[in-house]
Amino acid sequence: MTVSKTQVAIIGGGPSGLLLSQLLHLKGIETVVLERQTREYVLGRIRAGVLERGFVALMHEAQCAERMDREGEVHEGFVISDNKVMHHIDLEGLTGGDTVMVYGQTEVTRDLYDARERMGGIVIHEAADVQPHAMTTDAPYVTYTKDGESHRIDCDFIVGADGFHGVSRKSIPAGQIREYEKVYPFGWLGILSETKPVHDELIYARSERGFALCSLRSQVLSRYYVQVPLTDKVEDWSDDRFWEELKSRLPEEVAARLETGPSIEKSIAPLRSFVCEPMRYGNLFLAGDAAHIVPPTGAKGLNSAASDIHYLYHGLVAHYAEGDSSGLDAYSDTALRRVWKAQRFSWWMTSMLHNFPDHPEFDQKIQNIELEYFLASEAARTSLAENYVGLPF
Ligand code: APR
Ligand code: PHB
Repeated sequence: MTVSKTQVAIIGGGPSGLLLSQLLHLKGIETVVLERQTREYVLGRIRAGVLERGFVALMHEAQCAERMDREGEVHEGFVISDNKVMHHIDLEGLTGGDTVMVYGQTEVTRDLYDARERMGGIVIHEAADVQPHAMTTDAPYVTYTKDGESHRIDCDFIVGADGFHGVSRKSIPAGQIREYEKVYPFGWLGILSETKPVHDELIYARSERGFALCSLRSQVLSRYYVQVPLTDKVEDWSDDRFWEELKSRLPEEVAARLETGPSIEKSIAPLRSFVCEPMRYGNLFLAGDAAHIVPPTGAKGLNSAASDIHYLYHGLVAHYAEGDSSGLDAYSDTALRRVWKAQRFSWWMTSMLHNFPDHPEFDQKIQNIELEYFLASEAARTSLAENYVGLPF
């Protein structure tokens, strides 16, 4: 067993773990990131791509924003299509100047990996059997194996940034955390295609046949989704069937100009809301998907992760620079307050825009009128806009 030492051991080399590692490095705080997969595998995952301003600011602070600023698209609004009628949500006008950045999570992750490499950061890929230990003591440590050899890293703190299926949350004894969950009765079938996006802004479409989303990664790469029953399999969906279904959920004039082509990725993701409380166990701190999941309708997954990292980063810096642990002590409460606001918004967007065939007719009537009300009322649209661009940290 080889033994080494660092200040903060970070489990998980997704966007949460990498961003924290990069931010701490710039403040002179040592980290080691342990990632189960290869770098190629992590960068092969297709995920969402709408960044709030707070996230963009963190990428700047992390000195990782150059390519994002160059290649990302600033979006001043988006569209909600309600039964084939387009309604523009003017984010910038409604929020007094706020916008979002459309830039894929894959690209964010790639930029963070590049920065870690440039600065000599330690990111250990293919770390197997990662396990946090002695979390409630002043001498926590993490063990793992790599290439058949056992390793141990002693540290001051462990950060569990290892996603929903990671080991960190599962290492907290039962009874020390509480989990809140809501599972939705449908999933999103998504495809990526090398076609020109159908619209210059995102279109969130509610239709009689179910929800659809037109998103994009660049002007030559489109990302589209349709709501499907949980029983559907990817194999049930040929590209042709997907395009026909998508068109049937969009306004005719949008469907008419939709450019179709072969999919280069196709997958089904179930929709889930999940929160674990508290987000701390002794000297183990949970961040990002390890602690919470949102349905993707509000584009809050990556942004909620970034919000945790913001609080944890400032808490750790105050601890090391000034011996002030109040930020770390408040971390779970502070982070959770914003997490729950993003949960509420994501749940609400999901509830408003999807078909719930099993809901009582009364509820369906309320759902119809709720969307009509929101689209017609500036006060209501302002609330939607301020949540979509992201509440302040
Ligand atoms: N040991 C080491 N690494 C692990 C382990 C483990 N036991 N389990 C999981 N991991 C790694 C995963 O391989 C993954 O690369 O942890 C990383 C977690 O990354 P993400 O799942 O991307 O989570 P996070 O970094 O919090 O990013 C949140 O991801 O799922 C989206 O909607 C979410 O966009 C949000 C973002
Ligand atoms: C995406 O581009 O993948 C995307 C965009 C917005 C969402 C969800 C997913 O709300």
